[in-house]
Amino acid sequence: MLKDYKDEYILNIIENQHYTTRTILSSLLAVQDEIGYLPKNSVNVVAEFMKVSTNDVWGVASFYLNFRFDPPGKYNLEICWGPSCHIGGASDLQQTALKKLDLENQGDTKDGKFSLKFNTCLGACPQAPLISVNHKLYGKMNTKKLSKMMDELN
Ligand code: FES
Repeated sequence: MLKDYKDEYILNIIENQHYTTRTILSSLLAVQDEIGYLPKNSVNVVAEFMKVSTNDVWGVASFYLNFRFDPPGKYNLEICWGPSCHIGGASDLQQTALKKLDLENQGDTKDGKFSLKFNTCLGACPQAPLISVNHKLYGKMNTKKLSKMMDELN
């Protein structure tokens, strides 16, 4: 069930964002970093704050695939499939995760426990192959370790 976030709460997030140059994108990022997704009214609040139209904000929010409009699962599992991780066995990690979560592709599990996402680079290539769970990185991953980790999170 979607939680209601008051406009004042969202405005407070936007006003206190750590980005020094405030843009539509930085404001949306600040909201998603804090709440985990973009609640419906956040688009209007960002539009008012930036003195632009809601269409301008929707344009940015819908362009970037990293923005989501509903709450993520309890565990945000990202598997990197960038070049270094691909060479290191990312496909096996992807297949293991998909199978364990009973998913056909990246997305959310029905029980709301996991949100699976394939990332193009988690930014720590020397540690490939990499995954992250709720933004914490785990390098030198293999299918056995991933499987065990997912069982422990369940
Ligand atoms: S390619 Fe996977 S961390 Fe860069």
